[in-house]
Amino acid sequence: MSISIAEVTESAKSALLAIAGANELSDLKSVKIEHLGDKSPLSKASQALGKIAAEEKAAFGKVVGSAKAEVSAAYEARLKVLEAERDSRVLIEERVDVTLPASNIPKGGLHPLTILTNEISDLFIGLGYRVAEGPELEAEWLNFDALNIPADHPARTMQDTFFIEPLDSKLVLRTHTSPVQIRTMLENNPPIYVICPGRTYRADELDATHTPVFSQVEGLVIDRGITMADLKGTLDYFAQSIFGPDVKTRLRPSFFPFTEPSAEVDFFFNGRWIEWGGCGMVNPKVLEVCGIDTTEFTGFAFGMGLERTLMVRHGITDMHDIVEGDTRFTRSFGLGIK
Ligand code: PHE
Repeated sequence: MSISIAEVTESAKSALLAIAGANELSDLKSVKIEHLGDKSPLSKASQALGKIAAEEKAAFGKVVGSAKAEVSAAYEARLKVLEAERDSRVLIEERVDVTLPASNIPKGGLHPLTILTNEISDLFIGLGYRVAEGPELEAEWLNFDALNIPADHPARTMQDTFFIEPLDSKLVLRTHTSPVQIRTMLENNPPIYVICPGRTYRADELDATHTPVFSQVEGLVIDRGITMADLKGTLDYFAQSIFGPDVKTRLRPSFFPFTEPSAEVDFFFNGRWIEWGGCGMVNPKVLEVCGIDTTEFTGFAFGMGLERTLMVRHGITDMHDIVEGDTRFTRSFGLGIK
């Protein structure tokens, strides 16, 4: 026999001492490998059991068995104690002090232009209109030709329009929201009642009253028996909802290739007439391009700038405030999130 009872008792003793002396879970882990692992003296004693003489086997086996049981039980007990210690230490070390002052993380909010766009959309949805949208990168044909704007019209020149290279792509950054009228009429049969808010582009320098990226809202109605009186009534309702119940509008004769007759719409606000946008009866040439029967249907359209609307309503004097995104400005409009 290669191992004696005395040796087993000795190994068990030193195992118990090592377990009692382990003060960290990591130490206990190495103690376990050393004293209870496959290569530990106690495991070796178990393996040696097979080789000893039958008459000694029972007595030796009992000693080895109880030594292993005792060491294992001591290990488990120590493990519980060390785990409990670790758990209460973690509770203290990782405690969150809920009384510390919190840093104020500002919430995001909607831009005043978005708030106005939503307000106008809601207004017209209430009248039974749909909101229509189109791409900002638009086909030249939809932005100009279909709207009866001829190739030599000044609005098409390099000064006003952002053309997209290569030039034979025939794409422009839309200069107004009117191409959405054409898209709507090509895709839908009358009656049509739509409002088209969106971003538009013209080659202007940013200054107090201009910005190369601006926003418009377009209205389009095509139905049986639509007259200029319907247009005027709609504009009155629109202006009064946006600027106040006493606001008046007036139409001044004007020209747009896609409306006939055409007018500028002004509104009376804070004691003066303010130019708001363009409008008119949809030119039959435009209706024909869109395959609408001009003997049955007539329609009106209007379009105004949203920045201008916002500036007048809120007394904003510098366009920079609208485009620069300083939250001290935008916050004064509220978050616009309900
Ligand atoms: N699209 C015109 C512009 O941008 C405005 C307009 C819209 C005029 C609809 C008449 C009818 O100037």
